[in-house]
Amino acid sequence: MKDPLHILSQELEETKSNKLFRFMRTIEGMQKPVVRINGRDVILMCSNNYLGLADNRELMKTAIAAIRHYGVSAGASRLVSGNMTPHEQLEQDIARFKKTGSALVFNSGYHANTGIISALAGKDSVVLSDELNHASIIDGIRLSRASLRIYKHRDTTMVEDILRSIARKGNRNKPAKTLIVTDSVFSMDGDIAPLKELVTLAEKYHALIMVDEAHATGVLGKNGRGAAEMLGVNGRIHIQMGTLGKALGSFGAYAAGSKVLTEYLINKSRAFIFTTALPPAVCAVSSKAIDIVQNHPGLRKRLEDNIIFLRTGLRNLGFPVSNDPTPIIPVLIGDAGKTMKLSSLLFERGIFVSGIRPPSVPRGTSRLRMTVTAAHTREMLEQVIDEMKRASTVL
Ligand SMILES: Cc1ncc(COP(=O)(O)O)c(C=O)c1O
Repeated sequence: MKDPLHILSQELEETKSNKLFRFMRTIEGMQKPVVRINGRDVILMCSNNYLGLADNRELMKTAIAAIRHYGVSAGASRLVSGNMTPHEQLEQDIARFKKTGSALVFNSGYHANTGIISALAGKDSVVLSDELNHASIIDGIRLSRASLRIYKHRDTTMVEDILRSIARKGNRNKPAKTLIVTDSVFSMDGDIAPLKELVTLAEKYHALIMVDEAHATGVLGKNGRGAAEMLGVNGRIHIQMGTLGKALGSFGAYAAGSKVLTEYLINKSRAFIFTTALPPAVCAVSSKAIDIVQNHPGLRKRLEDNIIFLRTGLRNLGFPVSNDPTPIIPVLIGDAGKTMKLSSLLFERGIFVSGIRPPSVPRGTSRLRMTVTAAHTREMLEQVIDEMKRASTVL
């Protein structure tokens, strides 16, 4: 009899031969702009620690104090006995920060997207989703069993066509629940969704709208509230989802919106109900990080300067880099094998930037996904640009 694991090895061999085998590098210390891997220092150019808060002293002090006071675990789900003061405090802080009536914390962005969408939409619903939305949004829609209508990337004409056809077919007695969902900053492309147009369409066709601010929270907008703030539509979005493990240097995620929304999710979202609550110290750190984001706009300014510097430098080398105001800078290569070769070459030369291949991105669009943070110095970024110049000669 063949070992039943044999079939897994076979599938893995196939993954390897398609140059899609994944592996992890281990960072031997804190998340800083320069990290140690296998005893060597490399410049980290693929972290979502956009404001450099992952090793922030104030946040570390907050974590230690919270652990002393609350211990290390919540011990149960929120609805049983895991709901502690830091969870409640964080939700109040998020609602105040996002200027929404209410907020609910989830254990991660993946949990939040799967948990929110599968609670809001059901078999009788239609979900309109940008073709480049994050995997957790796609999985949420699959879980919901709603009918999925994928629209072309940022194509609001197509969104309106779909909404119009839903309205035409609509059952007057029981209208379909319609949800438009989009990343605000696209995680692999770094471009921004046309939120103004999408919100206007949602209003016109009485649809719910949900925006994933994972890569915009703490980064975009005058006060770091996100792309909704930057584009002036903060009060017009029903569900603002965001993460706490990227620019905020902590862990977890949130749904911000009305009190009706959070009460609905507390009662209906399986990803909220059936999981142990976040450790209380993690919530205390997130609250402090929100305070830092609001009171230290200089961090955002430094990030903005670094974004412009790196994007301009790469463009000057001939790479097709846009001038989006976001820290995610995709350098499109196309072929998966070539992308990984380039990523290894850069790593040997002291630059850690990950190659992104299918299924994370569509076939033929493999890329280096470069990210920049407020913590990178000019010298580091100049070194990155120099090494990209050398690396480009092997393409
Ligand atoms: C757009 C987007 N949404 C959600 C997530 C998931 O968030 P988390 O890492 O907190 O699970 C990510 C990435 O991780 C993301 O890029």
